[in-house]
Amino acid sequence: MNAHALLVYCRAGFEKEAAAELQARMGELGVAGYVKTRPDSAYILFQAMSVLTEAQQQALHFHDLVFARQLVFLFESDAWTLPADNRITPLLDKLRLCHARFRELRLETADTNEAKELSGFLRKFTPAVESALQKSGLQQRKAEATLHLFFLDSTTVHAGFSLPGNASPWLLGIPRLRFPANAPSRSTLKLEEAFLYFLDADERRELLREGATGVDLGAAPGGWTWQLVKHGLAVTAIDNGPMDTALMQTGQVEHLKVDGFHYRPTRPVSWLVCDMVEQPQRIASLCAGWIADGAAQHAIFNLKLPMKKRYEEVRLCRDAIAQRLGSRAYRLQIRQLFHDREEVTAYLKLI
Ligand SMILES: C[S@@+](CC[C@H](N)C(=O)[O-])C[C@H]1O[C@@H](n2cnc3c(N)ncnc32)[C@H](O)[C@@H]1O
Repeated sequence: MNAHALLVYCRAGFEKEAAAELQARMGELGVAGYVKTRPDSAYILFQAMSVLTEAQQQALHFHDLVFARQLVFLFESDAWTLPADNRITPLLDKLRLCHARFRELRLETADTNEAKELSGFLRKFTPAVESALQKSGLQQRKAEATLHLFFLDSTTVHAGFSLPGNASPWLLGIPRLRFPANAPSRSTLKLEEAFLYFLDADERRELLREGATGVDLGAAPGGWTWQLVKHGLAVTAIDNGPMDTALMQTGQVEHLKVDGFHYRPTRPVSWLVCDMVEQPQRIASLCAGWIADGAAQHAIFNLKLPMKKRYEEVRLCRDAIAQRLGSRAYRLQIRQLFHDREEVTAYLKLI
């Protein structure tokens, strides 16, 4: 399917970072165009100077983008205006002109308080669009793409598609996780989301199980340790602060009040996780060191970004990791998860 523009959802306030990243990536792919942003809108648009071919669409990897929550290829650069008294007929007419076929449908808005006021409208409108799409033959079981209708208001919509494996599987790119009642801190959701995002179901089964071991740097009060314990791991929690009493009573946690920058286990562990509040490049280099030395097989670490030059900081962290790992082949993914605030989360392992 042809696309003329890109729509990227992001965390409100991170439009500049998402734009700088996308512009750089499109430059690397040799696609001429420019990014349009509005502060705090929670999305950005990339206007291509010519049609984005399927090869170009495939070369742009959603999972390489740090600040994108979702990646949608738009049929047209401009939003469509739909008459309030009959939105569906003109919508289907326009979709037919795009020669598009879809498997799934998502009606979405930006993740801002202002846009959320549309959620009642979307709830009511979704079944009507679904049934019209099915009757029209545009929705087909063997089709691959997901249709995204991204509403700016109740009559203005950006229409486009995402492709499986090159998009977030979640509505709005947001996983709906419930805070576990007995977890020691809300931070627990960051690691839960990281496991869901970075690992597939087979990897989670294989890597997060009884018999596996973990070290949690900056563990107190224990939200991240709690996730590891939940999966059956034996965990060494490093922090001068106190750990949650119930978590310690599981018998799966050893708590050491030592400096996370100096601690190393006597035997290699399956997982290193790190949520210490420190300079991002220092954390990146520390965790890469564990992986480079074989002290841990997998690492997930949170990088607290500065107020300014946040995209640049992520780039510097990548450089610090590359330097620490030298010529070794590794998999590194960095992502601003939904539960990350002024932060990003990284997953690193040797391959
Ligand atoms: C954001 S909190 C961690 C929250 C934890 N992940 C959770 O889910 O409950 C950061 C922690 O890092 C610890 N910390 C900061 N610098 C540290 C260091 N050099 N060594 C060990 N812990 C450190 C702090 O004491 C603090 O408890």
